[in-house]
Amino acid sequence: AASPAVLPSLLLCDFGDLKGEVSRLADAGAKVLHLDVMDGHFVPNMTYAMPIVEGLRRHTEMPLDVHMMISDPLTYAKPMVDAGADLLTFHAEAVIDAAETAQQIAELGVSVGVALNPDTPLASIASCLPHVDMVLVMSVEAGFGGQKFNPIALEKLRALRDADPDLLLQIDGGIDASTIGPARAAGCDLFVVGSAIFKKDDYKAAFADLNAAMTS
Ligand code: DX5
Ligand code: ZN
Repeated sequence: AASPAVLPSLLLCDFGDLKGEVSRLADAGAKVLHLDVMDGHFVPNMTYAMPIVEGLRRHTEMPLDVHMMISDPLTYAKPMVDAGADLLTFHAEAVIDAAETAQQIAELGVSVGVALNPDTPLASIASCLPHVDMVLVMSVEAGFGGQKFNPIALEKLRALRDADPDLLLQIDGGIDASTIGPARAAGCDLFVVGSAIFKKDDYKAAFADLNAAMTS
């Protein structure tokens, strides 16, 4: 099984100082960056796309975990890989055939994740599980940072972990010192965190709190 890690979500960060944010996050102990790409169509919010991924790629060796909250992930998968993404996650709700989508992304030579929103049942990703490296269980409806944790994610994590001890599991949304422990206990490996890092002045202390709460 993978060793657990906190992944900062570059959504509530200072976009006027991305280079500084990346170096502060690295100093605080970040090992992977989670990039929230939104298209204003699949979700009612817009963020950024390839140019920012490419810019971040030039400032860090950390793996870039790109969470595509977009309607047409296959159209942008290759541009994202070319921009420097290491892991590409698409939403099951956005595609007709999740298994086919996962296979086509894998052919680009990156790791593949499939994400599902709180209301989306696990059954909708069953056929694509053999073709993905990771499942992203959303604990909020994709689209905005700072939302309240939905415990339905814990049930999904437990079911996925029971079915496969080795599948990489990620959770995203409302993760803080009170929710990270239950998520870890449910079998999660990777914890995406926005507010609980970026609303703090001291990223190092935020990472320390989260890491301590993960195992307690
Ligand atoms: C939500 C994004 C998350 C979000 C997490 O659509 O995918 O990555 O930024 O932020 P918090 O931790 O504030 O819920
Ligand atoms: Zn995300």
